[in-house]
Amino acid sequence: MKSFYITTAIDYANGSPHLGHAYEKVLTDVVARFRRLMGDDVYFLTGIDEHGQKVQQSAAKRGIEPIELCDEAAEQFKELCSSLNISNDDFIRTTETRHKDVVRKILQDLFDRDEIYKAEYKGFYSARAEQFLQEKDMVDGKWPEIFGEVTEITESNYFFKLSKYQDWLIEHINSHEDFIFPRFRAKQVLEFLKEPINDLCISRPKERLEWGIPLPFDEEYVTYVWFDALVNYISAIGYGTSDFDKYWPVNYHVIGKDILLPPHSVYWPIMLKAIGVEVPSSLLVHGWWSINGDKMSKSTGNFIEPSEFVKEYSVDALRYFLIREMSVGQDSDFSDELFTNRYNSDLANDLGNLLNRVLTMTPRYCGDTFPARTIDEEPEKELEAAWSNTESKVVELYEEFQFHKGLELAFSFIRSINRYAEQRSPWKLAKSEDQKDKETCATALSLMAESLRRAVGLLEPVMPETTARVYELLGYKSDASWLERIKPSDALTGAKVGEKVILFPKPQQEKK
Ligand code: MSP
Repeated sequence: MKSFYITTAIDYANGSPHLGHAYEKVLTDVVARFRRLMGDDVYFLTGIDEHGQKVQQSAAKRGIEPIELCDEAAEQFKELCSSLNISNDDFIRTTETRHKDVVRKILQDLFDRDEIYKAEYKGFYSARAEQFLQEKDMVDGKWPEIFGEVTEITESNYFFKLSKYQDWLIEHINSHEDFIFPRFRAKQVLEFLKEPINDLCISRPKERLEWGIPLPFDEEYVTYVWFDALVNYISAIGYGTSDFDKYWPVNYHVIGKDILLPPHSVYWPIMLKAIGVEVPSSLLVHGWWSINGDKMSKSTGNFIEPSEFVKEYSVDALRYFLIREMSVGQDSDFSDELFTNRYNSDLANDLGNLLNRVLTMTPRYCGDTFPARTIDEEPEKELEAAWSNTESKVVELYEEFQFHKGLELAFSFIRSINRYAEQRSPWKLAKSEDQKDKETCATALSLMAESLRRAVGLLEPVMPETTARVYELLGYKSDASWLERIKPSDALTGAKVGEKVILFPKPQQEKK
């Protein structure tokens, strides 16, 4: 079995889960589920990023210990994962011993090999961004607002020799086309690397920041939060033990566009190179969600609680919307109107009505099991041709992370089934006394059910609950692989038709 390791970014413990976090987890989950369905041995990691100044400050404001704040956040983010039906294999917290030990081990190793040195540093420091700034970060002679208050400070700190790896990194990016997806993001990184990079300050004096991992070679300092956080990707899978090679190198780090540069595309590959570990195969960089055209912000109320949508609609409805609406890598906008339009047209009407027709008409006209197909005329041939254009293309699109296009095709096939139903009109055929009409009626209902079975199979990585529920209602059970399950079959012939259910009720509609 091929191993496949995929991670999300680890979310800051001092914020609450929002739509952006939800999207990243769902996207990663869709890739993970898809790879599992394709037969890979998947390891899917997510977690939270618990150290740093902001956590220390937020905890102090509330008069609690930082770890209490992190415990609460860990619960909230775990709850987010479970409400979104995320199939992660692990959830890492950077305050766990398994993580802290690895960070310290790496620091010591780099220090022993002179990759880390101590120096006096005078510079402009942004407490909000938790980083030193350079004059070039100024816009029109001023520090941009995102940096908050900026003060000039002098202190001794430890530095990691980032700059000596700059040429190697440029060469690596140039020679590994797949390192950054989508490709246009690689160009941005190469552009950034045209200027000389500085060595990375990886320490913070304890008098300024206590909430961090102490440096093993100087306990008066804690580790810079990015140097600490990035290591989660290897500490979680047993760096330094014999288990490590099972999943490393990682196949995809899924991250938002804001954290590509410099942490994931510069610090992380260089850190790995310096400790002699293979660099990630690929960074899968997604865009950002805005809400009603504006940046998401809790303070202005422009904020979406993913759990509200799950409660009001269903987890699959939210997962479907997020994946159908955003093309991986591009930005997208969320609005109630867009959400309800998609929900009503694709889920309630196209898919929901098809299921409803199958579950209502089959028992009414054919009895409580699905009939066999005996007729194969133009309408049947056309529907089957539509399927053969769909199946392999959807799988191909999923392989290329074009999930929105894959879903579009799958739903276009669902609409073809509905058109076939209109064309054959089983409700009219059922009234006829003619034997041929009766057979056509049975064939139509059988083919509608069978086509629905294949279509919901395609939706499985995105809407696993829906697939399972529709399989159950169609009386379909199978141990076959996913690629087998989405193939045409007569497995439903003789299967018991389930009770009528409304899978995607319109808000005012009851479920039964
Ligand atoms: N803690 C760091 C990541 C460390 S990874 C070693 C961090 N945390 S975060 O909570 O701010 O962001 C977590 C992820 O959510 C990032 O990949 C970020 O891009 C993503 N998103 C945050 N807001 C977002 C949107 N509005 N839209 C889509 N994703 C966004 O950065």
